[in-house]
Amino acid sequence: MKIELFEMERMQSTWENVVDIDLSESGVRAVTLRELAALGFDLDGALDTPLSYSQGNGTIELRQLLGRHYPGATPDHVEVTNGTSEANFIIALTFEQAVNERTRLLYLSNPNNPTGRILSSDDMERIVRRCEETETWLVADEVYQGAELNGRQTPSFWGISDRVVVTNGLSKAYGIPGIRIGWIVGPPALVQECWTQHDYTTICPNKLSDALARVAVGNREKLFARTRAILREQLPLVRDWITTFDGLLELREPDAGAFCLINYKSDLPSHELAERIRINQSTLIVPGSQLRLENCFRLWFGAPPEKLREGLRRIGTELRNVL
Ligand SMILES: Cc1ncc(COP(=O)(O)O)c(C=O)c1O
Repeated sequence: MKIELFEMERMQSTWENVVDIDLSESGVRAVTLRELAALGFDLDGALDTPLSYSQGNGTIELRQLLGRHYPGATPDHVEVTNGTSEANFIIALTFEQAVNERTRLLYLSNPNNPTGRILSSDDMERIVRRCEETETWLVADEVYQGAELNGRQTPSFWGISDRVVVTNGLSKAYGIPGIRIGWIVGPPALVQECWTQHDYTTICPNKLSDALARVAVGNREKLFARTRAILREQLPLVRDWITTFDGLLELREPDAGAFCLINYKSDLPSHELAERIRINQSTLIVPGSQLRLENCFRLWFGAPPEKLREGLRRIGTELRNVL
């Protein structure tokens, strides 16, 4: 089977630790272990934890905590995975196995990456009804839920229909990508099938990560508040910077997430622009082309503010040379 190169991911893994300033990310600057200890994680207890395998589908305690955020969901509706990406992957594998000529799968992310936009409840309803009519499974990736600029939590697709499966994780709105925890919420029979796939992919989530995730999910509102405060503080830096370009740049205002799309008025292909910025300014952005868009780039504004300011200055220098 030929697997298409995930260009953006490869570009990020190649350069993000090499450049001076990485503004290609999508979550907020990450929470530290110390911050999680302040929220109740037992650091000292962790020193004595045997580093054995953890419960394959996530500890019951973690699945219970997660289930509370999805009305009607029990631990049997939840499968804990190594990141949202494994959650999405396992679902794709599970459906592939069960596939017949009538099986279809629609994947969407809401809030959306890369636009940062949130669907209206009417749009959500329409999408779900269309999935029901066509017997399509809807996989709703809600990893940016909780990272809304206006502070109003994006409603979940969970519960709108039996054909909905939700994926989510700690990487974005919780600000904890490094411990690699994600989850699937779906009908128990489907979740069982996902567990079967999970036995082959990675067996189980990391044991310490499961413990950290219990603290994170138990303190969800505090972590979401931290994220939203960072977003609200830092998006204005981008807005102000854009006004210095006399209309050459246009911000596509995000509703959620720590990234935004910026359109530019020039025929210069976005991958050339991003390469110039990387080579001449040691700063990484995502070219629109890697998102199947043109005349735009995606910018991360969730970085530490001094990095963001310096990154904007460097991108600005290059933009003024080429636009
Ligand atoms: C919509 C979406 N889903 C999943 C992921 C990956 O999440 P995780 O780090 O939890 O695997 C990303 C990362 O950028 C994303 O934007």
